[in-house]
Amino acid sequence: MTDAEALKRQAAARALEYVRSGMKLGLGTGSTAKHFVELLAERVQQGLEVVGVPTSEVTRAQAESLGVPVATLEEHPVLDLCIDGADEVGPDLTLVKGGGGALLREKIVASAAQQMIVIADGSKMVAQLGAFPLPIEVVDFGVAATRRAIDRAAKAAGCHGLLTLRRRPDGHVFVTDQGHVILDAAYGVIPDPAALALNLSQVPGVVEHGLFINLASRVILAGANGVTVLDR
Ligand code: A5P
Repeated sequence: MTDAEALKRQAAARALEYVRSGMKLGLGTGSTAKHFVELLAERVQQGLEVVGVPTSEVTRAQAESLGVPVATLEEHPVLDLCIDGADEVGPDLTLVKGGGGALLREKIVASAAQQMIVIADGSKMVAQLGAFPLPIEVVDFGVAATRRAIDRAAKAAGCHGLLTLRRRPDGHVFVTDQGHVILDAAYGVIPDPAALALNLSQVPGVVEHGLFINLASRVILAGANGVTVLDR
């Protein structure tokens, strides 16, 4: 395991301390969340009783294959805790998410949870959001027009940058679990995340964006000097 993977696993292991038997859990997506599901599965094998609501088909398949009971938000519309990774963690625990393409379901699941805990290696902590391109999930109709509207909305929030249609490694357009496409916005800096979030949410064709504001209540960061827990 690389050093970075070991740090992600340390953060995931710390998050397990907040899990209690009987909880309904949102299960995140990405390489850090994958560690959490693996560690959770070990505890389930030892008798921990939880139900997980996955934020992607990938996580659903992983949880099922490891014997973690899964359910849907229809069955459990209120969750005790959601545990997920992030691409960037900024001031006030504002996040950029969606590098793995699951931002829409991730935001729905996190919003349904009484608490969201983010797990990450220390490199994800930033003074200002935006170096990681912001994923914006859009409807696969009129994308050229949606791009122009996004540019206008972003400009009004002080953001400028190239929008790139996300592709899979084989060159085909990346399609989300909900059948949409993703534009990755290279803004570099996002001076006012709340303003950008509001403006983007008003663009027809934008389904969701990767700014998570007032959702994470705790962030667990694992770095070379140990694990740090930040609370909002
Ligand atoms: C998935 O869509 C993302 O929001 C992930 O949570 C995020 O990209 C973090 O992924 P890693 O844990 O792989 O860095």
